Amino acid sequence: MVEVVKNYIGGKWVGALSGATFETHNPATEALIAPVSKSSASDVATAVEAAKSAYKNWRLTPAPRRGEILFQVAQLLTERKEEIARLMTQEMGKILVETRGDVQEAIDMAYYMGGEGRRLLGYTAPVEMPNKFGMAIRDSAGVVGLITPWNFPVAVPSWKILPALIAGNTLVWKPGEDTPATSAAFVKVFEAAGLPPGVLNLVTGAGETGAALVNHPDVRVISFTGSTATGLKVYTQAASTGKKVCLEMGGKNAILVMDDANLELAVEAITWSAYGTTGQRCTATSRLIVQRGIQGKLIEALVEKANSLKIGYGLDESVNMGPLVNQKAREKVEQYVEIGKLEGAKVALGATRPNLDKGYFYAPTLFTDVSRTMRIAREEIFGPVLAAIEVKDLDEAIEVNNEVAYGLSSSIFTENVNAAFRAIRDLTTGIVYINHGTTGAEIQFPFGGTRGTGNGMREAGTAALDSYTEWKSVYVDYSGRLQRAQIDTETILKET
Ligand code: UN1
Repeated sequence: MVEVVKNYIGGKWVGALSGATFETHNPATEALIAPVSKSSASDVATAVEAAKSAYKNWRLTPAPRRGEILFQVAQLLTERKEEIARLMTQEMGKILVETRGDVQEAIDMAYYMGGEGRRLLGYTAPVEMPNKFGMAIRDSAGVVGLITPWNFPVAVPSWKILPALIAGNTLVWKPGEDTPATSAAFVKVFEAAGLPPGVLNLVTGAGETGAALVNHPDVRVISFTGSTATGLKVYTQAASTGKKVCLEMGGKNAILVMDDANLELAVEAITWSAYGTTGQRCTATSRLIVQRGIQGKLIEALVEKANSLKIGYGLDESVNMGPLVNQKAREKVEQYVEIGKLEGAKVALGATRPNLDKGYFYAPTLFTDVSRTMRIAREEIFGPVLAAIEVKDLDEAIEVNNEVAYGLSSSIFTENVNAAFRAIRDLTTGIVYINHGTTGAEIQFPFGGTRGTGNGMREAGTAALDSYTEWKSVYVDYSGRLQRAQIDTETILKET
């Protein structure tokens, strides 16, 4: 009998109040992973109550002490890295090196945010009046609601949970419906690290669970990572109750390859960023903007390299690419491949299911002769599909990169330092790489994108704290008399 994945509310593992469940399946074998609690608005309300009551003490717990719990989280995650990675591979399909990397990203973030417990820097500034002091400090925001996707089941939640915790907030987390078991394993790490009951609550479910969290009047902040369509709904809904919102949404990331590029390096990087994680990263490369002179050689080398990728079950260490997350995801990829063909793009590689009995696999796919206006050049596919667009020079490459509705990550391959710096200046994405693919952001720098990718907020780095803190400006007047700012300035200055 497989155990039901339960909610974690107020420090206890409990089923949904209605008793309802849904099932998750291994995308490589299609075997049952577990029944999962299907939470309703009442479960969310119970979790918010638990978070509200835990907030009273957690906000007053000294931040360095909160940091020590995060260090403990980092240590326990390190010990459990392999176990969680294996569970993640079974639940959502990524190969083991990638699921280990996913857990590692959370370990890195736990150490980084643990350190913030001794910083959380505010500032002081001179004030207008004598015998008066001013400072701006970061205050906790209250109860924070988190909605996360299945593609990075530990790393992406860690970008939200860890900064929100160090800043003194309490949380209700609704994880992706394809990855509840991994999410529960992550929560168990916090439990074992000694996080007090109610500080982090987990409610599993689907859209209605997330919507209940977004609509709850006592939730002050919503942080969401997922599709642009859902993200914009979350934004609108959250606005009606005045919440602060942090959004990370779609991408249509490109690698620019100039004629003078290191071809071998570019091929390695494109293969990794386009087909790694089966193309299911918001940072994945889905456009190749390639200068005329290198195009023939590049496509040929890329087809050869991508053809050598072994597709299969991610628990097999020799496999390079796992399945798509579920049947629906594969259908979406197949629809886009059909659209690409109808639009007149040429299939240079893939565009088919590999010959495997079970699982939602799809072959690495490359389209050439793609024009800028085609849907496969503009819309997010979220699968192993790469569209190559030919350009004449750097100016055109930058223009093509910048014209899509998304702005997360971009990259250029060139050996020319002037071209590299022009790209840094002119590419209008939130992340820019030189001679590296579009994936692989590190946790100490801001992560997020422009245009349809986000709403101006950033995750990771200290920028993450902006989502989970309120600025509090403090004035201390120790003159013993009323000194009216902007009004008494001149008289008081004459006296001194
Ligand atoms: C995502 O796909 O949502 O930069 C996150 C990267 C990873 C995180 C991806 N560090 O590719």
